[in-house]
Amino acid sequence: MNVIVCTDYAEMSRKAADIISDLVAAKPDCTLGLATGSTPLGLYAELVKDHRAGKISFKDVDTFNLDEYRGLDPDHVQSYRYFMRTNLFDQVDIDQSRTHVPDGSNPDADAACAEYEAAINAHGGVDLQLLGLGHNGHIGFNEPSDCFASATNCVDLTESTITANSRLFDSIDQVPTQAYTMGIGTIMSAKKILVVANGQDKADIVARAFFGPVTPQVPASILQFHPDVTVVLDQAAASQCPTE
Ligand code: F6R
Repeated sequence: MNVIVCTDYAEMSRKAADIISDLVAAKPDCTLGLATGSTPLGLYAELVKDHRAGKISFKDVDTFNLDEYRGLDPDHVQSYRYFMRTNLFDQVDIDQSRTHVPDGSNPDADAACAEYEAAINAHGGVDLQLLGLGHNGHIGFNEPSDCFASATNCVDLTESTITANSRLFDSIDQVPTQAYTMGIGTIMSAKKILVVANGQDKADIVARAFFGPVTPQVPASILQFHPDVTVVLDQAAASQCPTE
């Protein structure tokens, strides 16, 4: 695992954007696995800048997002499809038909998840999967559990995740209680993984996930077994990592 510690959020965002930009420049038809949340906002803004500066084109890029709330249609302002359009897709030259997000509007959870997993596999997998880190160690919406879920599945969100995500809704009652998410197996199949985390509030979980025991109670800890993981942190998020 390659851990890169940056001075602040801006440097973390630029460093992570460089890793994605370099891949897109080297392999213009690459497949990116994308994440939503607050952490990647800065790096998406940097990718938009790179595109506007003529450094990269997304026209041949395919994308698969990690997750989507169950019960929200793609035009809902809190849907992850809407988030991706606003923060990246509508601002670059990507072909929207090549962008994939689980279909939260499909009430048939088994069908929605099976279709998404099949689409990723039919496509040949993901070259680089971007991940944020939940305060409880979740990746995608794979919450702490007794076992690692393999494929795309429907999950019940924990109280802590619902509370954390309620900041983006008018009230906590509006936060969906379930989501469709790539499984841990889906995430681990990506050729490369890029994790971003910033802020003091992530310091404890960063240390536990990347330097503690591998356990489904800290889902991100499984990444210690992936052969190609880069973790980009700001100093605050890295502050509880062991020093050599
Ligand atoms: C988002 C996702 C989540 C977030 C995580 C961190 O698609 O799958 O795992 O990455 O909850 O969220 P932020 O970045 O808002 O702290």
